[in-house]
Amino acid sequence: GKSGYEHFMLKEIHEQPRALRQCLRGRVDELAGTVDIGDLGDLSPTGVQFVACGTSYHAALHGAQLFREAGIPAQAFLASEYATATPPIGDALVVGVTQSGETADTLSALRAARRRGARTLAVTNVVGSTAARECDHALYIRAGPEIGVAATKTFASQLTALNLLALGTSTTGDARQVISALRDLPGHVQEILDESAAQEVAELYQAANAYFFIGRGYQEPVALEGALKMKEITYKHAEGFAAGELKHGPLALVTENTPVFAIVTGDDERARKTIGNVKEVEARDAPVVAITDGQSDVERYADHVLEIPETHPRAAAVLANTHLQLVSYHTAALLGRNIDKPRNLAKSVTVE
Ligand code: F6R
Repeated sequence: GKSGYEHFMLKEIHEQPRALRQCLRGRVDELAGTVDIGDLGDLSPTGVQFVACGTSYHAALHGAQLFREAGIPAQAFLASEYATATPPIGDALVVGVTQSGETADTLSALRAARRRGARTLAVTNVVGSTAARECDHALYIRAGPEIGVAATKTFASQLTALNLLALGTSTTGDARQVISALRDLPGHVQEILDESAAQEVAELYQAANAYFFIGRGYQEPVALEGALKMKEITYKHAEGFAAGELKHGPLALVTENTPVFAIVTGDDERARKTIGNVKEVEARDAPVVAITDGQSDVERYADHVLEIPETHPRAAAVLANTHLQLVSYHTAALLGRNIDKPRNLAKSVTVE
């Protein structure tokens, strides 16, 4: 059942701290600063191609960034576009990110990769799923069953599992910081669930014409995901962009009736550039909602702030996403939408 929550989606958003603890359990040694993902640790890929759809594709974008940061060439492909990818070479690994393990486009891309001689790995929530059975390897995200059509806790668990995969198969300078940020993640998500001002933001902007989401680096996939969740359950127009792309076209759509959600973490060059983009939309009178750890001065240009604790930018992605899940959820609830079963959508898409 829904354990007292009005919708499975809200229940599953609230299950995230537990899901993340399960994902991390037995896989991190904080004292040693190491990750143990069993045999997968020996994969040492020379390159990684990710294939996925929808929300899982946004997780794949995060995963590809993780590997590139570790010096391993990596790219994320929409599974339905994988036919146009250059074939994997050498000791490449093709990773299918699929919550259900049954998405037809993703299965078909993984099969194509196998035919091309690549090793394949399924990052999935479902033990015994087709992806888990057909791939050479599987990494389970351990989120527990997800009933709501909109993917919520499984996305958080995918991001976390992909961090474990990257840490376990490659070397990054800041492994210790990432591991400690991952350890803090369940507690940090709980803080957001307890304190988020997302409902107030939803109430203020439920009548908006459209919603825009911007972010850079690890926050770009979060911006894309924020928009997908919003359109999927509210039936309202929403778009996510890399913050830098706003001025190359989408800015023409920005008005006082289009709230812009800007994810800004840290206080570095990237943050400063995104704040520059925030100023551009503020000058067009768009309401600005900053999702921020408070390190930069983005709050000066924002109408509302959704706060996240200070942490590693990789973990900040999960935290920012938690606020955005709640904004979409409350907006959909105010509009009376069928949140757990949005029109025209199915939980797993088994046709190409
Ligand atoms: C959106 C959503 C979908 C799925 C996509 C892939 O909330 O749930 O976009 O992410 O259909 O599904 P899986 O991960 O099962 O392959």
